[in-house]
Amino acid sequence: MITRAVDRFLAGQRWLDRLGGWLQKVIAAIYAGLGAPGRALKDLLNGTWLGHQLHPVITDVPVGAWTLGVVFDIAYLATHRGAAAADWTILIGLIVAFGAVITGYTEFVDTADRELRYGIAHGLLNTVVVVLYLISVILRFTGTARGLAIGLAFIGYLVLTVAAFLGGELVANIGYGVNHHAFQSPPTDWTPALMDTQLAEAKLTRAQVEGVPILLYRRGPTILAISETCSHAGGPLSEGKVDAGRVICPWHASRFDLITGRVKGGPATINAVRYDVRVENGRIEVKRSAETLQQS
Ligand code: FES
Repeated sequence: MITRAVDRFLAGQRWLDRLGGWLQKVIAAIYAGLGAPGRALKDLLNGTWLGHQLHPVITDVPVGAWTLGVVFDIAYLATHRGAAAADWTILIGLIVAFGAVITGYTEFVDTADRELRYGIAHGLLNTVVVVLYLISVILRFTGTARGLAIGLAFIGYLVLTVAAFLGGELVANIGYGVNHHAFQSPPTDWTPALMDTQLAEAKLTRAQVEGVPILLYRRGPTILAISETCSHAGGPLSEGKVDAGRVICPWHASRFDLITGRVKGGPATINAVRYDVRVENGRIEVKRSAETLQQS
């Protein structure tokens, strides 16, 4: 009920799409302008090195701190004691929130359609939250207008709740950031994928094996196989390019090692499933490798 109303409301806000698209271009241009260090920084902020998105890890800190801040502020209003507890808790939340903003807008660069609309709404609301808490912190530590500082923090917390709801919808309902292999069942026994004659040299080729898309790549006498679905947002890796033994996703340029399936460049954070390959009676057969870095 609420989710449908929110979805309909956001669908009518075309300006969000325009603003989001413009913002994506600006952020992407900043990273591109930094060259190789920019790519490394983007991978760092996306959490590619961690095998997990960094943004949701960081957001727990301000949400937790500001929840405590509400409790401490209410306690202060009731007793006129313990103001410092709220001030320092809110300050810690604010400092970490800057990291949440940076990682959030970095992830936002590689969204589209409904993801983009929810992402920009989530990001804008949280930006408002950070500004409100920033003013609140300044008022608290300069010793002026404590009542206003507490009021701004309460408003900030309410806006944060709405923003968190949109963030939850973005992941749980729309599926942004979900491992796109999670609901696939890779074959664990040798299973035919393709006739050997159908696989050309150095050509990314998709095979459907028991409903699971698998990427095959012949390199001389060796045939390599990993998931064909990009773990980031489901891009078709067979439509990508190969560079230095890595397949580059056609959607947002994540890179996966063709031998191991390991993520070599974001925004993806989750490795591709690796398959063992053999040729039997002229047929290429595959099964999930015991050495795969991705267990789904
Ligand atoms: S779908 Fe985003 S990098 Fe592949």
